[in-house]
This record gives sequence, C-alpha cells and structure tokens, in this order.
Amino acid sequence: MSKTVNIAIVGATGAVGEAMLKILAERQFPIGKLHLLASERSAGEKIEYGAKSITVQDLATFDPTGVEIALFSAGGSVSKEYAPKFAAAGAVVIDNSSVFRQDDDVPLVVAEVNPDAARDRPRGIIANPNCSTMQLMVALAPIHRAVGIERINIATYQSVSGTGKRALEELGRQTASLLNFQQAKAEVYPVQIAFNVIPHGGDFCDNGYTSEEMKLVWETRKILGDDGIGVNATVVRVPVFYGHSEAVHIETRDKLSAVDARKLLEAAPGIEVVDEPVGGGYPTPVTHASGNDPVYVGRIREDISHPRGLSLWVVSDNIRKGAALNAVQLAELVLAEHPKA
Ligand code: A2P
Repeated sequence: MSKTVNIAIVGATGAVGEAMLKILAERQFPIGKLHLLASERSAGEKIEYGAKSITVQDLATFDPTGVEIALFSAGGSVSKEYAPKFAAAGAVVIDNSSVFRQDDDVPLVVAEVNPDAARDRPRGIIANPNCSTMQLMVALAPIHRAVGIERINIATYQSVSGTGKRALEELGRQTASLLNFQQAKAEVYPVQIAFNVIPHGGDFCDNGYTSEEMKLVWETRKILGDDGIGVNATVVRVPVFYGHSEAVHIETRDKLSAVDARKLLEAAPGIEVVDEPVGGGYPTPVTHASGNDPVYVGRIREDISHPRGLSLWVVSDNIRKGAALNAVQLAELVLAEHPKA
C-alpha cells in the first residue's frame, strides 16, 4: 500500500456514509482517490470533501479496480453482492452490515477490544459489529478481562438514526404532525415512534427474541472470544434522533466492587466515565453522546439483588462509535499494517 490509500465509501449518501466521510476528514486519513458510491437514485449528486466536490457514482456500474479500502454501509443485500467483488479486486472491505458477521472466516472487530483479529481476514472482509454490541463491548471488555463476565442482562434504548435516514425523517414528521393535532403516519416502523417506545428491532425469531436481540448474544461471544457468556437482551426503539443508551446488568465470575469497576473503566480506551450521584451527573444521548466519539458510562453500582452483580448505564453515538468511527478505526488498523512507502 502506498502512503495514500484509495478509498471507496459504498452508501456515501446515507447517515453512516456521511459520518464516515466526516470522520475520515477529522482524523486526516491519508486518502488518495476517493470514490463515493450509492444507488442509481443519487448518482450525479455532489458531496463536498475538504476543498473538493466529488460526484456520487452508481455502485452498479463502478469498477472497483484500484480501490484499496472499501467502507460499506448500504445494507445487507448490497454488501452480499458487492463486498466479495471489491475484495476480489484487491480491496480490504470493512462492512457495516450483518451479512458476514457470523462467518468464521470474517473477523468481527471493535478497535479498542480485539484489534489483532482484523489481521486475519482470509476473504479480505472485516465486519463492523452492530451498533448496540459495539458500545457494550467497549464498556464490558475491560471488566471481562479483569474478573470474567458470566451473564449480561441488557435493555437498549435505541435512537432512530440506527434505522437510517428515512427513520430520522419519520420521527421529525410524526412529531410535527402530532404537535399540529394531526395523525402520525407510520411508514418505517410498524407503529408510531414519536412520543412512544417500541420493543422491537429487526425480525422476530422462533425463540421469541428479535434478530437485533440475538445479534447482541452471538456478536458479544465472538468479539470476547467466549461462548460461555449468557446474554439476555431486550431491544427498544425510542424517539431519540442520535445516540443509543443501554441499561446493563452483569454477573461477574469474581466479585468486582463498583469502586474498582469505575477505576477500571476510567483507565480503559474509548470510555469516558460520567458518574456523579446528582441530577445530570450521568450521560444521556443529547447531553453527551450525540456527535461525540467516546462510549460514556455512568450509574455504576453494585446490584443489591446479586452478590457478584453490577449495573451500568452505557451511552454512545450509534452513528459514530456504533458504526462510522469504528469502521474508520479499522481502516487505520489496516493502514498501520503497511509501512509507509
Ligand atoms: P441512495 O441515497 O442512492 O439511496 P440510510 O441507511 O441512511 O438510509 O443509507 C443507505 C445508503 O445505502 C444510501 O447511501 C443509499 O444510497 C445506499 N444504497 C441503498 N441501496 C443501494 C443500492 N442498491 N446500491 C447502492 N447503494 C445503495
């Protein structure tokens, strides 16, 4: 790889694609050629990158030859069809969809947790974890390494941006309609999201959980490399634009006090502890996470119902650390494998 890298962003007009571009610029990623790709619908649109104005190209007719790193965030079916083509053309694909995450020959990597796994990618594809798993892993990996985690009980409070741009528009539109005494029309979600909470993410599985809940189960096990961890998840969509929150209850193998857990988390990469027992002394999507990089942890306390239980509140920007930032961090790991020419 040369000292600049030819990059393609697939899904460049989407919520995550836009954030990827912004974060590449913020972190001064050494880009050579930059290809912005989307569907035929947006081909021809112009997107600003620094002083340049780049024309969005149609993925279906794009030749990936010469692309060195491709960041995919255009949904599962696009990744399934095009990621192998980009990899065959020599690109390292960093894929934000769920289609490859379970494959044994595709590493699933959180930059702060298991960066070494990114090197072993026989298919040229590295998978970016689901947004809820991402922030959970940043927060829990230090605890798992120190004392072992036996079981995780989690309820998520997920923002609509995780569903994409149409969902952001739907929350805005429904809110405006209801404040104007008009009916809220639900198109993206099965029921009204404005002024409501919806205990449903993804598709329902035979075991009664949803696919988004099951992702938290097996992605956690794969990233932490421990199939013995029990995970019980409830995924809830809330009328928040950006930032996912999680109420997390863990049972550790060895006892960890809240004081020691706080110390451990304060020293861990990617985490900011916000934990004062006063009003506002805890992280929220609006006051902390939205637009920022860290995974914020607060409300750290010992579980009064279990001798080795701990409770935490974990908040992060699902578009940044939950998707785009981690993808760019993975691109930086790939770049670091190659000494500068
Ligand atoms: P487009 O703008 O052309 O629809 P989000 O999840 O925020 O809605 O974004 C989805 C992203 O994936 C957009 O950039 C969208 O492009 C892109 N996309 C969706 N379907 C395709 C497709 N068939 N080929 C290429 N890009 C696609």
